[in-house]
Amino acid sequence: MPAILTADGVGKSYGSGSARMPIIDGLTLSIAKGEFVSLVGPSGCGKTTLLMCLSGLLAPSDGAVSFKGQVVDQPPIGLSVVFQDYSRSLLPWKTNLDNVLFGMRRVQGMDARAKRARAEEILAAVGLTGFGGHYPWQVSGGMQQRVAIARGIASQSELLLLDEPLAAVDAQTRADMQDLLLDVAQRFKQTCVLVTHDVEEAVYMANRVLVLGPRPTRVVREVVVDLPMPRDQLTTREAPGFLHARHEVLALIRGMRQGQKLS
Ligand SMILES: Nc1ncnc2c1ncn2[C@@H]1O[C@H](COP(=O)(O)OP(=O)(O)OP(=O)(O)O)[C@@H](O)[C@H]1O
Ligand SMILES: [Mg+2]
Repeated sequence: MPAILTADGVGKSYGSGSARMPIIDGLTLSIAKGEFVSLVGPSGCGKTTLLMCLSGLLAPSDGAVSFKGQVVDQPPIGLSVVFQDYSRSLLPWKTNLDNVLFGMRRVQGMDARAKRARAEEILAAVGLTGFGGHYPWQVSGGMQQRVAIARGIASQSELLLLDEPLAAVDAQTRADMQDLLLDVAQRFKQTCVLVTHDVEEAVYMANRVLVLGPRPTRVVREVVVDLPMPRDQLTTREAPGFLHARHEVLALIRGMRQGQKLS
């Protein structure tokens, strides 16, 4: 499969002069069309900064990002982000339904009625039936996060970058949302890059897990998850391939923590 997204020697620093703080250093990655890739790494290592660079919202200080063979210098059409800070990413003057419809503004081949029906269907799929007419600030944090996911899914973008999209969702809903994301990604042939703190989730969702090192971050290991899609919450999590990948990622992260304690 050809690459849909590449980062080539990407570096990013915040600040300047003596206050300059390098966040990403020489990071290279390649995401193939149709893949589901998870990114895991220590807290504060630069995952959100990386997604901002990949999506064209931040310009890298070094190197380049390409989407479908074109250098990214602004947010490209066909790429959507579900932000970690969902409370600030939803438009407070729009209802939850209108927020989802906003995500569909570039979807072609559907009239307004069909879009509305589709938006309502997606809100129902994320467990928000009856809340489309509410405003984001009238629903809980976990519900707002699900509105943001619904908006990302509804966009039908070729590439979806998801920054800890399930962090505020309760454990039971979380498993349903994982399966929903996988199902939608397959149905709409969406390529997904998922940042998560949850190693089990990273492995369950992905074809590959990229482990990021401490700041200034780069990819330190690629763990291939050799398991078929679709996944199943019970059998996948018991499969030897799942346990093996989980072990490898956890051991790496533990090693990084111990390294940090020593230094
Ligand atoms: N706009 C900014 N200006 C200056 N420093 C920033 C800015 N955004 C983030 N940082 C710093 O950059 C570092 C990486 O932040 P980032 O949010 O990318 O990490 P992260 O891996 O997503 O963290 P988390 O796991 O908490 O989500 C942190 O030390 C943070 O304080
Ligand atoms: Mg982050």
